[in-house]
Amino acid sequence: MANKYDFGLIGLGVMGRNFILNVVDNGYTAFGQDLNAEKVQALIDEGGDINKVSASTDAQTFVDSLSIPRKIMLLVPAGKVVDIVIENLLPMLDTGDIIIDGGNSFFTDTDRRETYLKGKGINFFGAGVSGGAKGARRGPSIMPGGSREAYQYVKPIFEAVSAKYMGEPCVAYLGPKSAGNYVKMVHNGIEYGMMQLTSEIYDLLKKAGGLTNAELHNTFGEWNKGRLQSFLVEITSEIFAQKDDLMDGDLIDVILDKAKQKGTGKWTSQNAMDLGIPVPTIDIAVTMREISALKDERIKADELYDRPKPASFDKSDLIAKAEHALYFAFITSYAQGMHQLSDASKEYGYDLDLAEIAKIWRAGCIIRAALLADITKAYMSDSTLENLLLSNDFVPKVQGTVAAVRELVAYGATNGIPLPGLSNALTYFDAFTSKRLPLNLIQGQRDYFGSHTYERTDREGIFHTEWDA
Ligand code: 6PG
Repeated sequence: MANKYDFGLIGLGVMGRNFILNVVDNGYTAFGQDLNAEKVQALIDEGGDINKVSASTDAQTFVDSLSIPRKIMLLVPAGKVVDIVIENLLPMLDTGDIIIDGGNSFFTDTDRRETYLKGKGINFFGAGVSGGAKGARRGPSIMPGGSREAYQYVKPIFEAVSAKYMGEPCVAYLGPKSAGNYVKMVHNGIEYGMMQLTSEIYDLLKKAGGLTNAELHNTFGEWNKGRLQSFLVEITSEIFAQKDDLMDGDLIDVILDKAKQKGTGKWTSQNAMDLGIPVPTIDIAVTMREISALKDERIKADELYDRPKPASFDKSDLIAKAEHALYFAFITSYAQGMHQLSDASKEYGYDLDLAEIAKIWRAGCIIRAALLADITKAYMSDSTLENLLLSNDFVPKVQGTVAAVRELVAYGATNGIPLPGLSNALTYFDAFTSKRLPLNLIQGQRDYFGSHTYERTDREGIFHTEWDA
């Protein structure tokens, strides 16, 4: 084979095919591999010029087609498949070759693979890719972690294919080992939070304000022109306008209300617990997907209990307050995710640059939003900022919206409309901004029944009291 290809990609499903075509669009040559011959042929047909893009079902042909050091991206399902693909490749690779896992792998799996492959002279990257199929084709946000030295070989390709925010590529070297997968995991946790919050606002607008799907389409469309501008608000507006193609009516009304999940939101929540960092907006978003799955039980329970009929709420007043509430709650979702990243960075030695992370989320990814430009600025002016709520830039943004959140949460509680994400965001805010919480009582109780000791407000030291003496 005369000319070797610049980039290799294993897994020619929707994401893989789109990603490889994006690489080729940007002037690189690429070779794909998949065990499915139809997918291989589909890529060759779509690529149109085998000098630029070709593919094979055969792993050896694939490996032999790539220039050294080989840059091989895997876009295969997370889990065992990644290990199987790596094991198959290993005997054919040379020292210094690079494997990039572009899937949503669990970060400890990435650490294990990185250590194992380092021992064999192979550089391994965990690189989260966000933006779905369209993003993969036109420009995703890419979150790579691994060896800084080896990153120079993939950097030009990733920078070329990534989304651009005002000309800046939405990709950056994030840190060693599993830093990239970890950041992508938390990205998804924030995504879960924002999706849950959007669904609650939809419920409120529909039940309290009686908004039709056409009005919902317009409302989210208008919001998308302002400070709520984001991919998720944009697609929400479009979803309300989608007609059903199986029968008359709007598609949204016939979609079953059971939300599925592949695990990244749950992992974010579980790991936040391990770190001791509160992310209640993300936790409740995972819980709500679980409650949604209990459809049969919900139907039975619905019959057993009375529910108040929602009192009417002036439509334009409601829309204005809902906009405030969604803005407030989006901020808490980012604040919690960034807080988790800040702590994980220390715990796992990632040395993350939070401003850089906010920057590469400004375009291409699912949580891209106008707010991320403000978040970038906040972390650029203070790289040690632990929580966005402590940023002077954010105080007025949050302060100006919280009254509306209080009113809507109270309305939801009184009128039987579940707003768990919104109320959790408010509770998180109220607790996080409280100088004094009642947990002195918990310390007293712990010491009372278990001699667990307590600290005092007026002097240093560890104390124990014989409470019932
Ligand atoms: C992205 C998404 C993507 C994720 C889907 C589905 O950034 O492009 O986060 O990676 O797989 O959002 O996730 P769930 O099935 O868990 O909702």
